[in-house]
Amino acid sequence: MSVRVVIGAQWGDEGKGKIVDLLSDKAEYVVRYQGGANAGHTLKFDDKTVVLHLIPSGIFNGDAHCVIGNGVVIDPIALVKEIEGVKEMGFQLEGRFHISQTAHVILPYHKLLDQLKEKRRAGNAIGTTGRGIGPAYVSKVSRVGIRMVDLLDKEVLKSKIEQNIADINFALENLYKEPTLSADDLMAELDDSINTLSPFICNTTNMLHEGLEANKSILLEGAQGSLLDVDHGTYPYVTSSSPTSGGACTGSGVPPTALTHVMGITKAYCTRVGNGPFPTELHDDMGEELRKKGHEFGATTGRPRRCGWLDLVALKYACRINGINELTLTKMDVMDGFDEIQVCTSYIIDGKETKVFPLSLTEIEKIEPVYTALPGWDKDISGMTKWDELPEAAKSYINYVEEYLGVKFTIISTGPKRTETIIR
Ligand code: GDP
Ligand code: IMO
Ligand code: MG
Repeated sequence: MSVRVVIGAQWGDEGKGKIVDLLSDKAEYVVRYQGGANAGHTLKFDDKTVVLHLIPSGIFNGDAHCVIGNGVVIDPIALVKEIEGVKEMGFQLEGRFHISQTAHVILPYHKLLDQLKEKRRAGNAIGTTGRGIGPAYVSKVSRVGIRMVDLLDKEVLKSKIEQNIADINFALENLYKEPTLSADDLMAELDDSINTLSPFICNTTNMLHEGLEANKSILLEGAQGSLLDVDHGTYPYVTSSSPTSGGACTGSGVPPTALTHVMGITKAYCTRVGNGPFPTELHDDMGEELRKKGHEFGATTGRPRRCGWLDLVALKYACRINGINELTLTKMDVMDGFDEIQVCTSYIIDGKETKVFPLSLTEIEKIEPVYTALPGWDKDISGMTKWDELPEAAKSYINYVEEYLGVKFTIISTGPKRTETIIR
């Protein structure tokens, strides 16, 4: 039995979807625990490429129960679209897909507010995905949120929507100078999705507790990444949830004492999409080359991802805050063909060298990265499945990172497909 959290150890898009899909045939439950349709998790198997935003990445490999936990914020309209896509591919959800009663709902006004707020921030915009994530978590934390269980009682739902839009209409009219909303229109807009989603809404907390008591294996799938965590990330350039391992417990009802593995996923380099500090970002041809070779364009918004060298100071911080005890390295194949590969091993801030990731935005913005150059390799490693096949320089690169972090890589990914993987 294992209870494994899979976490992005950088700024998201590390390849969590690929790895959760790969591991899910050995799991009985696969659980998303935070975030919403801001996530874009890409899976490649057989001849298929799928991008999932809300449905757990365990839906295509094996027969695990796929659970959307209480910590997720769910856009019912987006979820129904995704369900339809999965069904069209010939996969069944009935009996193995479950939505927490206490997960909060993203309503169309959350998306509208997300976009209006970003516009008002102008030069200080966060660069959100515009999926309503921030405003939905604001509703939740300010205790006016609507939960999935509320969709099951239309009278309750309508009265909660009415209460909510009173405040929102005031802001739309007076602050944003936008047309106001009507509860009847919102109810009508939601009607079809409520009918589709109702059969899946249940007490997933109890389901997972029963699974734990029966020694079942559970895979907890993080979205976003550690440096986008609302507490531990590069605030305010973060998302509004807790992608770190603590969030896996609060977002699912699985207690901390049940976790057996915390797997951190990192690419062999770094990317970030949206605004905010990125110490090892490359603004030159090398950054462009990484973007091209790695196909670094957002899976949700299509935006080009910012690219840079691997940042071991930030990665060590991610290992510490999550308690990472196993690592996965993805996109190793993208590093083929470089004479040298740089890794950031310390920072200079105000003239002083440090290996500690700073927490204030002012300090993060002052970081000058210090690099160590490691030898590259000219062999094409894409698709490799055996450790012994890797060129010596690739093995040395991996060993160097492991030594710095004090954690071993148990999986090395050499391509986007499920099969393009080295398991150590
Ligand atoms: P996630 O959000 O963490 O699930 O990651 P995304 O799906 O947003 O982005 C990762 C991208 O890299 C996807 O297009 C994957 O298909 C691709 N990918 C994953 N692992 C590898 C790998 O080892 N090599 C290559 N070349 N691509 C990979
Ligand atoms: P996955 O799960 C990368 C970024 C946005 C923005 C910030 C806040 O695919 O790794 P939000 O819409 O959450 O309010 O945006 O977070 N962001 C992501 N970046 N991968 C993601 O998810 C992301 N989800 C949000 O670009 O900078
Ligand atoms: Mg992604």
